This record gives sequence, C-alpha cells and structure tokens, in this order.
Amino acid sequence: MASVPSLASSVDQRVADALASALPEAGAADPLLRRSDRADFQANGILALAKKAKANPRELATTVVEGIATGDLIQEIEVSGPGFLNITITDRAIIETLAARALDDRLGVPLAANPGTTVIDYAQPNVAKEMHVGHLRSAVIGAAMVEILEFTGEKVVRRHHIGDWGTQFGMLIQYLLEHPHELDHKSDEEVSGEEAMSNLNRLYKASRALFDSDEEFKTRARARVVDLQAGDPRTLALWQRFVDESKIYFYSVFNKLDMDIQDPDVVGESGYNDMLVETCKLLEESGVAVRSNGALCVFFDDVKGPDGNPTPLIVQKSDGGFGYAATDLSAIRNRVADLSATTLIYVVDARQSLHFKMVFETARRAGWLNDEVKAVQLAFGTVLGKDGKPFKTREGETVRLVDLLDEAVERATAVVREKAEKVGLTEAEIVENGQYVGIGAVKYADLSTSAARDYKFDLDQMVSLNGDTSVYLQYAYARIKSILRRAGDRKPVAHPELELAPAERALGLHLDHFGELIAEAAAEHAPHKVAAYLYQLSSLFTTFYDQCPVVKPEPELVVGENRLFLCDLTARTLTKGMSLLGIRTPEKL
Ligand code: ARG
Repeated sequence: MASVPSLASSVDQRVADALASALPEAGAADPLLRRSDRADFQANGILALAKKAKANPRELATTVVEGIATGDLIQEIEVSGPGFLNITITDRAIIETLAARALDDRLGVPLAANPGTTVIDYAQPNVAKEMHVGHLRSAVIGAAMVEILEFTGEKVVRRHHIGDWGTQFGMLIQYLLEHPHELDHKSDEEVSGEEAMSNLNRLYKASRALFDSDEEFKTRARARVVDLQAGDPRTLALWQRFVDESKIYFYSVFNKLDMDIQDPDVVGESGYNDMLVETCKLLEESGVAVRSNGALCVFFDDVKGPDGNPTPLIVQKSDGGFGYAATDLSAIRNRVADLSATTLIYVVDARQSLHFKMVFETARRAGWLNDEVKAVQLAFGTVLGKDGKPFKTREGETVRLVDLLDEAVERATAVVREKAEKVGLTEAEIVENGQYVGIGAVKYADLSTSAARDYKFDLDQMVSLNGDTSVYLQYAYARIKSILRRAGDRKPVAHPELELAPAERALGLHLDHFGELIAEAAAEHAPHKVAAYLYQLSSLFTTFYDQCPVVKPEPELVVGENRLFLCDLTARTLTKGMSLLGIRTPEKL
C-alpha cells in the first residue's frame, strides 16, 4: 500500500517553492493551481500575491519561472497574460505516476492525514409503515457516503434511526392484543418482505379505522401508550413483534437495493428512551431549555412563526411526553460521548432542516457539540414525478418502493437482453446483469445530482444508454474488459518513454486526479462529485478509444501495450468509483 502524490500536488509544490524564494515575505503562499485548457495546469495565484507585495506581477511570474527546473516533471512553463503561469507536464511523468498507481490496490489514493470518527444517520424508515422514495434517497446517499469516507481511512459508525416509538403504537398494540392472530404467519416458512408489509398494512388500516370510530377503543389505545412508556412487559413484547415484522420488510428492500444493513446498527428512536429524562434535566439545569406553559422549550432569535412569535424547539411536552427532538438530542449525547464521534452526519430530507438546525444549536449551547465535534445535515431534495410534482401514484398515494425497484430491474433486463446474444450472455447472466443495471440506474440517478436538489424519477431516462447514466458507465467498463480480453497475448505495460497523443494525456491526467477527487467528495460530503468524475472518465476514454487504436489497426507493440495499460487503469478506476457509489460493474454486458 503506497500512496502516490498526484501530478497536481507535485507541480504545486515546485511552484510554491519557487514562489517562496522569489518572494520570501509571502510565506507559504498558494499558487492556486487549476486544470486548464490552454496547458495542463494554470497557476493563478501570483497576481494577488504580487499585488499584496506591491510587486509587478509579470516580473514576479518571470522570476518564479526562472526558479523552476524543467525536464523531469514539467515540460514547459511560461508566463501568460498579466501574470498567470501555463504549465505542461512531461509525458514521462504522466505514465510514471500512473504506473505507480497501478501497482497499488488503492490506486495510490492516500489515506486522510487525520482521520476521525463519523457517525452517520441514514436509511431510517418507520416501523409499520411502507418505505417511500425519501427513504430510498437517504439509504442510497448515506451508503455512498459511508464507502467514500471509509476509503479515506475515516472510522465510520452507521446508525439507522428508525421510527420505532411514538403514540401510534398504542393503537397498534391494543388492536393486536384484541386480535391476537393478526400478525401470525400462515406457515412455518419464512415470510417474504412483501407479506410482512401487507400484514402490517392491513393491521394499521384496521386499527386506524377502529380508533377513529370507536371511542372506547380510543381510550384503551391511549392507556396502552402509557403502559408502553412504563415498560409493561406484555405491551413491550407486542411492540417488539411490530418491530420484528417491519425489519423483515426493511431488510427485503435493502436486499433488493443490494445494500448491506447490519442489525446492530439499527438503533431506532426507542434506543434512547433511557436517556430522555436526563437529557431534559441537563438542558433545564443549564438554562438552555426553559419551561413555557408547562412544556420544556428552547428558543432561538432567528426562528419565528408566521405571527412573529418565536417558535421553540419542544423537548418535553406539557403532558410530560417526549418527542422527536428529545430523542435526537439524546442520540447526539450518545454518539459523542459513547461512540466518540468527531463528525455527525444526518442524511435526511431537506424538509426536516429546521428541526436539525434547532437540535444542533441546542446541542451546541449545551456543550455536546463544539469546535471538535461538528454535526451536519446532508439534506436531500424531493423526488419528483415526470410532471415535476412530488412523486405520487396516479391515485395520489405514495409510490411503493418495491414496485419501483422491480420496474427498474424489469426495464433494465430488457435493455440487457437486447445485446445479450452479441455479447454471449447466458440466461442467468442476463437476469443478474438486469439487477445490477436496474438497481444501479436508480442509485446513480439519485447520486448524480447534488443531494440538495430535487430530481425527477424518470425510468426511461435512467436506463438510457446515452447520457449521464449508470448503464452508460457500466457499458464503458464492460467494453474495456472486452478490449483487454481481445488483446490476447498483448498485456498492459506502462512505457514512460513514449510520446503521448492528446487524448492519452487527457485521460491520463484525469486518472491521476482520482485521489484528490475522493478527498474532496469526502470532505464536502458530496458523492455526486464521484459520479461526475466517473462520467467524465468514461467520456475521456471514449475519445481516447476513437483516436488511439488499441487492438485494431494493431499499433506498434510498445504503443499497444501502453494503451492497454491506460485501458486497464481506467477500468480499475471505474469499478472502484462505482463500488463507492454502491453500483456493480459486470465484466460482460
Ligand atoms: N424516520 C424519519 C423519517 O422517516 C427519519 C429519521 C431521521 N434521523 C433522525 N435522527 N431524526 O422521516
């Protein structure tokens, strides 16, 4: 395992050193190196530095250029415009750097210098309720974030904060108590997720109908909430049955999503019950929260209702009940004190942003969050239908996630089948690839725009072979694998002595950028940057493959080997990047 410094960082270092000797008073100045169309890189930092030092920018730039040796790393460096530097890398340095990356399992991507512990809250559906597209987004974005962070060496603790507590359980439990066989399974065989959910749905509807029509049942249901909160064993046992039944369903959906969710990481709202009283006590004693009309509240200067009065965060209701906020505040204490988190990430719908803003601010006032421990909401936008309105069925109901995923797989399988004969796929491979392409399409659509934006759920577009889709990337990968197979005896070998074509250089420089891209996506919690990188990688590969023959017409041996080397590293980078997004890349497609 050896991390490889990127060409950009090596160039940056050289320019910074030259800058430091040309202008010692500037200290460790940033040359502001960027990729550029005119050369490989452009350094834009000299202008501002010269201004600050009251020096002539072009003169300073010229002195810097004179202080930089060329030949090994830098082919050419020249002053342009009022004081920019245009920098071209040697072909040798490009291939040598890539060759070093190819030797490493991590493709030379460095580990973070000071990794911390991130607790990430994602994939948090609600017990006894159907999952919807919002839960899909949280799961997909969260899982990608986990992989990206772990790849940088961060310690990651997953928390699935499922909605498994609240007054609605009084009604459900009371109903089950009075109709004890409603959740029984038909046979001893394992129930499917669908069956579990349909049992829960039926029970939910029946109990809701009774609750709304029968006053006495309503009273019994309310009393049951009190029993539940008091920890009455018989009530808790029934509650547990709802949780278990729901988990059968959740796991079946996560499984369909090709996502690994571990039971010990499922710590729902109920997991913090023992902490609630203490959380309130700490907040009240420190004066962070105050009593207002009997409720325990936290006030904020900048959070007001439409009437201009402040809207508080209610930590404890006047009837003594605890809600969503008390649970989240307790979870923060647990994650910081017991799990030693340095970063808390919440992958939650943007519509809950006010809640998190108030919860985080409260935790900061209480001292649970501070400069060493920060919390962020990775807020995501709404999933829209083709009509641009929040995604609903024609009847106006929320779309069942399972139906969506099944349809995606069905469409994808049709796409795969069309080319199957040409590629030589068996029926089993068609079915498997259909799953990888269908699920990949759904995930990629979610990950390829920045999370905060709303996006349209459009299956036609998602499984399209053209454009920014996962199947486009999956095909690019499979095509490279097929090129490598067809190369027969010729093997990928790096040849740094060769002169490179423009398309080879462009591909090479992009491959070299992978490590920096990962660091950026991790730091900014931006998985969509990985998607954008991979899409560009595929486009650059396509141009390269159009312009530079790899197999036919057969190029000179060393040139062919070097091109195969670029193919191979592209494939490895693609498959690594896609795996970070939770998307599989079949070898044949
Ligand atoms: N269960 C909630 C929902 O379905 C999401 C939970 C988000 N996490 C949290 N710590 N509040 O909207």
